[in-house]
Amino acid sequence: MTSLHNKHVLITAGPTWEMLDPVRFLSNRSSGLMGFELANAAVKAGAKVTLVTGPVTLPDPKGVSVIRVVSAQDMYRACLKLFPKMDIAIMTAAVSDYRPAKVAKHKIKKCLDAGSGTTMTLKLVRNPDILATLGKRKKKHQLLVGFALESRNMLAYAKDKMKRKNCDLIVANAPSALGSPLNQVTLLYKDGQVQKLGKLEKHQVAEQLISKLSPS
Ligand code: C5P
Repeated sequence: MTSLHNKHVLITAGPTWEMLDPVRFLSNRSSGLMGFELANAAVKAGAKVTLVTGPVTLPDPKGVSVIRVVSAQDMYRACLKLFPKMDIAIMTAAVSDYRPAKVAKHKIKKCLDAGSGTTMTLKLVRNPDILATLGKRKKKHQLLVGFALESRNMLAYAKDKMKRKNCDLIVANAPSALGSPLNQVTLLYKDGQVQKLGKLEKHQVAEQLISKLSPS
């Protein structure tokens, strides 16, 4: 059995919420399960795990240091602070690419704020890319793993992502993974190796992925 004994592992999970006003936000359907199962699998392999998660309904995994955040900017700040101490970082979070340019202090009122028409225009600004930033700061001893959720051209987009974000491994999956207990993934390695796993429970995907990251 391979092991991650005493290795420090950072995992991101879940969606982020990008607040529009005190009650509304932009987000996505991520449940956080893949990241939480990876945290469980890494602990079982002997790692010291820190899980930075967006808003999800899952309980803290046993033996994991859990940091709960709301927005992409919160997640970015937490990860940048933690990364220098890490041996491995696995980014499963479905981070919102954009956030509202302004967060309204009060609940936006249809007539008062949005005008009397039938449309409303939101101005959005780009969120920082956590994985790409860690890719720039990565040291030789650190392993960086990204996820790629693609609805078309999965392998080509995933390969491109690996290069752009300086990852060692990319886990490609389809939108059917969102909110599902199952996942079918393809692993793309930096050296060009491609490995397709069957349709598995997410805890099985997590165990397989963690075993690939452990020195044999
Ligand atoms: O570019 P895209 O969002 O498809 O990349 C997906 C990968 O990048 C995932 O590993 C995700 O966790 C990570 N990511 C991130 N910060 C962002 C956007 C994506 O860490 N702002």
